[in-house]
Amino acid sequence: MAELMTIRVNGKVHKVQADPEMPLLYLLRNDLKLNGPKYGCGIERCGSCMVLLNGAAQPSCVIPCSAAAVYEVTTLDGLAKNGKLDPVQEAFIEEQAAQCGYCMNGMIMSAKALLAENKNPSDTQIRQALNRVLCRCGTHTRIISAVKKAADKMKNL
Ligand code: FES
Ligand code: FES
Repeated sequence: MAELMTIRVNGKVHKVQADPEMPLLYLLRNDLKLNGPKYGCGIERCGSCMVLLNGAAQPSCVIPCSAAAVYEVTTLDGLAKNGKLDPVQEAFIEEQAAQCGYCMNGMIMSAKALLAENKNPSDTQIRQALNRVLCRCGTHTRIISAVKKAADKMKNL
């Protein structure tokens, strides 16, 4: 049964009527129209639905809305500020990391979480941080280059 919930997403407070057990992903996409996170598998296996919960990358397809209410939720839609893309987004574009693009949400959100903790990650650390996200197109080499470029950009901020 739907309940009134308060949830903070991308710095805004939203009051929504929703089933507390409904996956956060559905609330974000269907109720809040934030389409950055994507549906891929629904069972925590592909990472296309990644969001940040208090800065940590988590798959929103397996997180109930009620559990998300205690976190600051950030989606891909919330990364750009004042019309300027986040350095991670810029780097992914500059390195042409996307092929079909379906995994990009998961890759970028996972990279954001990594670079917040580790400003100079090694290739191995990047691979480990992104290993919950499946890229069916095999653009991993360009994705790793993009994360390194993002790290460089963030050093110069
Ligand atoms: S849709 Fe969430 S991990 Fe695949
Ligand atoms: S670019 Fe197509 S799934 Fe990664």
